[in-house]
Amino acid sequence: MMSRVLVTGAAGFIGSHLVDALLGRGVRVVGLDRRRVGEHALADENLAEAVGSPLFTPYCLDLAVDQLDDLVAGCDTVFHLAARPGVRPSWSRESLDYTQTNVLGTHRLLEACTRQGVRRRVVASSSSVSGPADRPSRDEDPTCPVSPYGVSKLAAEQLCLAYARRADSPLSAVALRYFTVYGPRQRPDMAIDRILYRGMWPVGAAAARTLGPW
Ligand SMILES: NC(=O)c1ccc[n+]([C@@H]2O[C@H](COP(=O)([O-])OP(=O)(O)OC[C@H]3O[C@@H](n4cnc5c(N)ncnc54)[C@H](O)[C@@H]3O)[C@@H](O)[C@H]2O)c1
Repeated sequence: MMSRVLVTGAAGFIGSHLVDALLGRGVRVVGLDRRRVGEHALADENLAEAVGSPLFTPYCLDLAVDQLDDLVAGCDTVFHLAARPGVRPSWSRESLDYTQTNVLGTHRLLEACTRQGVRRRVVASSSSVSGPADRPSRDEDPTCPVSPYGVSKLAAEQLCLAYARRADSPLSAVALRYFTVYGPRQRPDMAIDRILYRGMWPVGAAAARTLGPW
């Protein structure tokens, strides 16, 4: 039974669902996000259930900048979901934030975990680490990211695995390569939200009427 876990990206789409699921199992959860609860509308919306729980403690910190040791100390497991997501925006002027958050932020978190002896890490990677394919991808296919986002996610997952593979390491790491995740609280920049709610395709408007808001 886990006694205390850290979820990075806790105020985000997937992270907030993970927080709710862990709290539902009686786990004490420390949430890290650079969106501040009480000041950021999305954080308030996504964590509406969690903030009422005595098992949940949210912290507003930037992975790439702030001191992380105090937060990871005493955690059995770190679920690392904080990231700058999105393939297309990673080609924008904000491109450097992808490296800053996804690579440097992950590396800083791993160093803090090592210093504090956190034994288990689960990292959110992405299907974007694969290149274009003319058939369904397999786990063992060579990686070939074609965007700064994909490169940053591949670097993050490989850093996590490298820290766990060190001969003297008592740590384990799992990298999960998510494909398109959808459902309540989904990010508005993602295709499924745009298709359903912003009439990108004619079928989207009809489907949105049938399904109602998630
Ligand atoms: N949504 C998908 O379909 C999908 C697909 C593949 C991979 N992923 C991965 O899953 C994870 C979660 O994605 P999501 O869709 O929930 O994204 P999201 O944007 O909703 O959540 C990410 C959270 O991380 C936080 N964050 C970003 N930079 C930070 C920093 N420097 N310090 C602290 N917090 C920071 C954001 O404020 C946000 O709340 C990400 O790692 C993403 O790359 C998502």
